[in-house]
Amino acid sequence: MSPSTARIDIDTNRVISAISPVLFSGFAEHMGRCIYEGIYDPKSPHADERGLRKDVLAALRELNFRAMRYPGGNFLSGYRWQDGVGPRDQRPRRRDLAWQSIETNQFGTNEFMEFCKAINTEPMMAVNMGTATIQDAANLVEYCNAPVGTQYADLRASHGYKDAYGVKYWCLGNEMDGPWQIGHLEAEEYGRKAREAAKMMRWHDPSIQLISCGSSSSGMPTYPEWDRVVLEHCWDKIEYHSMHYYAGNTENDTGSFLALSAEFESFVDTLSGVLRYVKAKQRSKHDVYLSWDEWNVWYKAREASDMQGNWTEAPHLIEEVYNLEDALVAAQWMNVFLRKSDVLKITCLAQIVNVIAPILTTTNAMLKQSIFYPIALYSNLATGHALDVSVSAPQYETAKFGTMPLLDVSASYDEASNRHAIFIVNRSQTESLPVEITWQAGKPSQITAAHQVAGTDPKAFNTFENPNQVVSKSIAAPKLDGNRTTMVVPPLSFTALEAAL
Ligand code: AHR
Repeated sequence: MSPSTARIDIDTNRVISAISPVLFSGFAEHMGRCIYEGIYDPKSPHADERGLRKDVLAALRELNFRAMRYPGGNFLSGYRWQDGVGPRDQRPRRRDLAWQSIETNQFGTNEFMEFCKAINTEPMMAVNMGTATIQDAANLVEYCNAPVGTQYADLRASHGYKDAYGVKYWCLGNEMDGPWQIGHLEAEEYGRKAREAAKMMRWHDPSIQLISCGSSSSGMPTYPEWDRVVLEHCWDKIEYHSMHYYAGNTENDTGSFLALSAEFESFVDTLSGVLRYVKAKQRSKHDVYLSWDEWNVWYKAREASDMQGNWTEAPHLIEEVYNLEDALVAAQWMNVFLRKSDVLKITCLAQIVNVIAPILTTTNAMLKQSIFYPIALYSNLATGHALDVSVSAPQYETAKFGTMPLLDVSASYDEASNRHAIFIVNRSQTESLPVEITWQAGKPSQITAAHQVAGTDPKAFNTFENPNQVVSKSIAAPKLDGNRTTMVVPPLSFTALEAAL
């Protein structure tokens, strides 16, 4: 191997963990044009009889989100779920204080359940821990999950939905550590409230899985103490603890931006340590896992004016435009999801349409942004088990993370369906890199397909007029030579290989 060649060693027996069935999930908030004009737009020529955008549904099906978190986000902490159910003409118009917008409530819990069915995803509901009570939270579980015969289940039936939904995943509030949050709480206060809400909610339905609010980012002054305190209060009442993080390249330092997986890994590692500490301190046999339920690049559309709706309906809020370097960061994020799949069981892309999203809409048209392509590849190809891949690659210097390898890699193997996938990001902005892949065990019989997102301009992006600037292309699958293959990955590229054993 020449010093400028990278080497990837794979052994299909060297497993990190089973990939959770809800690892690749999404997040839809009542914010800007995510719900209204994004998912639900009765005025669009693309709307079906329910007002759902057929073109958007089709693109979301391609993204194959396994669960969908809803209805917020900061919106959640002022939301009265009762506003969004029942006859549409009787639902109140309200001022949403989180985004200074008008909420018409024409889309609510039951419409969300229909939407989830339409894109074949599991609902992941969130309860308001800001202005609402633990009673409201328990009532919503009854409304969604209880059989008819009591008040809130009967209310659901009277709205036309006799069968209980059996919603499994429930978030206990949103970013309650943030002073910007409506009804923000201190860690002790939130920990106690979340625990009591969890008790009532689970008494309604013992099969539900609960997610406590973790730190809103690793940059919060209360991180990771917030997490310790909350976990100590809630440990035996929850299954997951959340983490949020938005990445940016405000300094226009692409070298460091493309090395961000170092930051993502260390965020997970710290929280894993907190989980282990609390488990040991409580002498517990119970396990709590991580739910990274808001992640994405978001820094360009982050002015105050991007976040305030001026009391209008469906304002254009945080409609981030994604470029090639953002897609390469998203790909590394998903590499981290696989490499940390022993502790990370849920991740939700924030968000799914128009608001910091892979999909943009106008009334008549829809655009897939650059990040759409790697996300679709991971969520469709990464199944079974995540593999512990050994990588040795030339290095480069970054201002933020010091010396980093040029390659960022992950892999999966699904014995049941005999599907094997390898995901490779080349962080170099200028150099093609020869890569030699060797299978120490589990040699494939064939590399069946290869897909690539690549370009020469890290700032290239798609527009409605020019939608194919950054897309995934099929490239020639490299040939096997015994238990090895070689290929050259171009600079600024993401490559996904599909193989069969
Ligand atoms: O996703 C946009 C916002 O970012 C969410 O409402 C909030 O939870 C986070 O701060």
